[in-house]
Amino acid sequence: MIARRALGPAASAQGPSGTGDAERRTRELETLHRLAQRVAAETEPRGVLERALQTLIDLGWFECGEALLEQNGKLETAAVGACAAEVVAACPLREGLTDDAREVLRSGVVTRRGRWRLVPVGPGALLALAGVQDVSNSFISAVVELVQAALKRTHLHARLAEKEQQRSRLLQAVLNAQEEERGRISRDLHDQIGQSLTALLLGLDRNLETPDPSDLVKLKELAAIALTDVRRIALDLRPSVLDELGLEAALRRFARDTTERYGLEVRVLVTLPKRLDRQEETVLYRVAQEALTNVVRHARASAASVVVTASRGGVQLVVEDDGIGFDPSSLSAAEQIGLMGMRERLELLGGSLRLESAPGEGSSVYARLPSRRS
Ligand SMILES: Nc1ncnc2c1ncn2[C@@H]1O[C@H](COP(=O)(O)OP(=O)(O)O)[C@@H](O)[C@H]1O
Ligand SMILES: [Mg+2]
Repeated sequence: MIARRALGPAASAQGPSGTGDAERRTRELETLHRLAQRVAAETEPRGVLERALQTLIDLGWFECGEALLEQNGKLETAAVGACAAEVVAACPLREGLTDDAREVLRSGVVTRRGRWRLVPVGPGALLALAGVQDVSNSFISAVVELVQAALKRTHLHARLAEKEQQRSRLLQAVLNAQEEERGRISRDLHDQIGQSLTALLLGLDRNLETPDPSDLVKLKELAAIALTDVRRIALDLRPSVLDELGLEAALRRFARDTTERYGLEVRVLVTLPKRLDRQEETVLYRVAQEALTNVVRHARASAASVVVTASRGGVQLVVEDDGIGFDPSSLSAAEQIGLMGMRERLELLGGSLRLESAPGEGSSVYARLPSRRS
């Protein structure tokens, strides 16, 4: 069998061994320059390793080699230099390579093994280079540094892309929720207030022709109902009490309304040394509103509580109920638009949301906002 070294490019003839120090240094710098250029455009770790391998072989520093990359706990060949993939599988030099590579990755130290030079270039990434010329340690270190930086950049790139995707999904969910809310308000206005006012108008017409005191009493009731509806819708949109009297008063008002409308007993306790700023109050109010609405809609609870306290330099809001509970981890993204909206609002101010619930155990929603003064 022919070892694949023999199939590699005639690299050794033009290799840097035997050349003068200054000339070698120049070649090293040229190689590093080329290497930096070639890996710069890569956005995937595999691409970076492939380019690095190819550059080192093309420029005659090694005859052939292989890049290994840990993926899902397994060390796999990410790229092969100089040989066709079919030949590589049969290459006698590869025997034990993966085990050796694993060991070198653990130690993190450039190691010679037989004809290989095993060069760890980052967490879970390694270049195995063969047909070694007399390559200086400082050159290898510089190569490692370059490849490492390029790999780090690809990881940042991936994280950024993922974050971006997450953001746009959330934004879409928020926009959808906003549209839905507008639809609901529009229906409320049309169906309830619109109807009351139409009936009122017809009744007034009737009474203009032949006034009827008992009819007028009914019409007055109708006007009162329409007024209540308008107040409720306005309150849902943004309670003026939140701006005027602050979070505690607004929460008490919402709690009282919830009790009146749905018979759910809601206890409110707010112990804050001073008023929060407008954004914080709005976020906490909306989160409490959504959490209490969930209690009404899903929990079949007899009582709930809303507690706001100063905690670890920030603020904590806890909404608890004694209802049927649920398994938060079992919800798909589409089933938790409300919860996602709460989380998004909090995260916009650097805060976070945590749910504690299990079937039969009631539910607790923990919302945290950090201190904004620091
Ligand atoms: N307090 C609660 N008690 C029981 N189940 C709840 C409670 N809060 C949320 N859930 C469950 O979590 C799901 C997601 O809530 P949410 O994102 O607000 O969506 P929605 O209220 O529109 O269904 C609800 O459909 C419900 O199954
Ligand atoms: Mg909800």
